[in-house]
This record gives sequence, structure tokens and C-alpha cells, in this order.
Amino acid sequence: MKTILIYESTHHGNTKKLVDAVAKRYGIRTATVEEAAAMDLSAYDRIGIASGVAFGKFYEATERFMDDSLPKGKDVFFLERLFFPLYLRK
Ligand SMILES: Cc1cc2nc3c(=O)[nH]c(=O)nc-3n(C[C@H](O)[C@H](O)[C@H](O)COP(=O)(O)O)c2cc1C
Repeated sequence: MKTILIYESTHHGNTKKLVDAVAKRYGIRTATVEEAAAMDLSAYDRIGIASGVAFGKFYEATERFMDDSLPKGKDVFFLERLFFPLYLRK
């Protein structure tokens, strides 16, 4: 199954670290959301979306990509690197 992992990691590079580790482990291609929006994704069976979260949502370009550019009929999975659980440890 051909997989691509599409990501947006703007604040601390946390999501990028996670994406790089997953891509290395499973040997899959990665692309930023900006790169992916300009790509033909029809050859991919499975699309991963990875983004930091701000104010309870994925980052803006990721939300836009999912609304406008995510092809229909693909297996889709999500990776997110939240900060919120740290607040809960207080
Ligand atoms: C302005 C701002 C808002 C954030 N809002 C949330 C939030 O609502 N929920 C959450 O769990 N984390 C929130 N975070 C934490 C980020 O999602 C977290 O640090 C993430 O790992 C950043 O990913 P990145 O380094 O790949 O951009 C916020 C961070 C910033 C800077």
C-alpha cells in the first residue's frame, strides 16, 4: 500500500520530528501541506495528515488542505503532537 505523510509543523518543529521518525521507521514519503497541495496524490492509497494544534484545531493550512485538496476515497490517518496533556499534569 503506497502511503504519503503530509505535515505542517510551524511552532517548534515537534510534528516534524514525529513525522521524520514515522517516515524512517516505515519508509514512507513525506511532504509539507504546501507541497502536497500542488501534487497529484492519486497514486497514493493511504494519506497521513500530521499537524500541530492551535486553539483546538489543526493549523490553518492543514485545515484548508483537508477541505480543498484531500482526495476522496483514500484511507486517511492522523498524527498530532499536542501540548495539552502537559497542562493536565499540574
Ligand atoms: C499559539 C499556540 C496555540 C496552541 N494551542 C493548543 C491547543 O489548543 N491544544 C493543544 O493541545 N496544544 C496547543 N498548542 C501546542 C502545540 O500544538 C504543540 O506545541 C505542538 O507540538 C506544536 O507543533 P509544531 O512544533 O509541529 O508546530 C498551541 C501552541 C501555540 C504556540
